[in-house]
Parts: sequence; structure tokens; C-alpha cells
Amino acid sequence: MDKKTKSIALCGKGGVGKTSVAALMVKNLAKRKDLKILAIDADPSVGLCTALGIQVKKTVDNIRNDLIRSIKKREKTDKDATLNMLDYELFDALTEINNVGFLAIGRPESEGCFCKVNSLLKDIIQDLAKSFDVVLIDGEAGVEQINRRVMKTIDHLIMISDTSAKGINVVNTIKHLAQDNKAVDYKSMGMILNRVRDENDVQSIRKNVLVDVLGWLHEDELIRDFDFHGKSFFDFPDDAGACKIVNQIIRNLQI
Ligand SMILES: Nc1ncnc2c1ncn2[C@@H]1O[C@H](COP(=O)(O)OP(=O)(O)O)[C@@H](O)[C@H]1O
Ligand SMILES: [Mg+2]
Repeated sequence: MDKKTKSIALCGKGGVGKTSVAALMVKNLAKRKDLKILAIDADPSVGLCTALGIQVKKTVDNIRNDLIRSIKKREKTDKDATLNMLDYELFDALTEINNVGFLAIGRPESEGCFCKVNSLLKDIIQDLAKSFDVVLIDGEAGVEQINRRVMKTIDHLIMISDTSAKGINVVNTIKHLAQDNKAVDYKSMGMILNRVRDENDVQSIRKNVLVDVLGWLHEDELIRDFDFHGKSFFDFPDDAGACKIVNQIIRNLQI
């Protein structure tokens, strides 16, 4: 049977709460034992894996650099052998715990544009994703890098912002890039407002922002506390406000 994988990518300005929200999403999705989840940490500082207490042994960037090194040394010429090797390496980089798989992308490339290598890796990630029900990507600020390094098409592009004008500007810019410049293919787009201190702010932001506000989270001591003490978000209490809101947002996305 052809199973349809649903993908969600989170993006937005640095420090607005992408990783915290992504970690809460993974925690909630993981409870659904009927689902296989692939969590992709596309932040160079591997924040999502850390937030969920996952040790990363190898990143996609490590695989990429090894391949580039061997191309430079002309070690591998056979395309099939290269593909098999990449398949194996990517599977090796995947950490699986119960129904959740974790993959870290690593640093943005620095050794020039090896577009073919990027596109090979992207194809393999896309192939790997097919064996999961939900793929969740904790992105960097830009959407271009998701398109360039992780996946061509995203079902739900979700921007995260705090209530600052800067954060909202970034959301509007990403919308423009994604929609008009086609920086990434997506099916639906929305935003989550984070660190809200005054509910009135939500109403005024709704008027100024160009995307649907899917939900909002309070400034939350528990999120800060989990981060501060490096606790795994898998242990975040189910009945905490932030957890319930994130759960509701996922349900509204019909996942
Ligand atoms: N709702 C919230 N309430 C309080 N602190 C938060 C909240 N969301 C995020 N933070 C804190 O803000 C900081 C940045 O969050 P993080 O999720 O790492 O952002 P990003 O991934 O967008 O860079 C962290 O210290 C985190 O604990
Ligand atoms: Mg982050």
C-alpha cells in the first residue's frame, strides 16, 4: 500500500522557539504508537537532538564531506556503488528510538558548491522519509536551506515567531520568499506565536502578519526550565499548557 508521508518544517528567526516547539511536537507525535516519526535536525548546532536527549554520532554533513573527499581523490567513480554507500551511511546516521528516528543535517556546507552531492543526499533523505508517516524538520532561519539541503516539498511550512516586530518581519519575509520566489515548495503555511506575555498582542499581530496564526504559546517557565537544566522534552508533562497547545496544533493539521 502506498503510504503518504506528511512533512512539517519549522522556520523563523533565531531564538524564537523553533527547537522548543519542534521538541514538543516530536514528544506529542511519539505518543502515537501507530505513527513512525522522522525528526530532522537541520540546525547546525543540533539543537533538536539535544532538546530530546539524543546523541548524534554522525551528521549528513559528515557523510557529505567524506564523499567530497573521496570524489576529490577520485576514489569512487561507480555511481551505483556511491549510491549504495550513501544509502548505508545515511541509515547509519539515523538514530532510532521506538517509533522515532532522528537525523541531524550538521553544518551548512563550506567547501564550495557540490550541487550534485547535495542533490544526491537530498534524494536519499527523501527516500528514507518515505518509510515514515510524519517528517518534522527543525530548520534554520531561512527556508532556502530546507529546499537546498533537506527536502524539495513540504506539506506544512510553519513559521515560529515571538511577539517582536523583528520576528514578525522575518515571518512576512519568509512568506514572500516561499510564495513569490518559490524558495521552497509547500502545501500549507501558518505560524505559531511564541512567548506571548499579553493576550492582546495576539490580536494585533494577527492583523499585521501575512499568514494564519495556528496557535500561540505563553512565555513559559517550564520551557525555560527544561532548556536551562538540559532536560529531555520527552519528559515534558502532558498536562502542561504548552504541551496541550502544541498537541492541538498538530491535530488541527490533521496529522
Ligand atoms: N514559550 C517560551 N517561554 C519561555 N522561554 C522560551 C519559550 N520558547 C523558547 N524559550 C527559550 O528561548 C530560547 C530559544 O529557544 P529555541 O527553541 O532554542 O529557539 P530557536 O530554535 O528558534 O533558536 C531557549 O532558551 C528557550 O528555552
Ligand atoms: Mg533551534
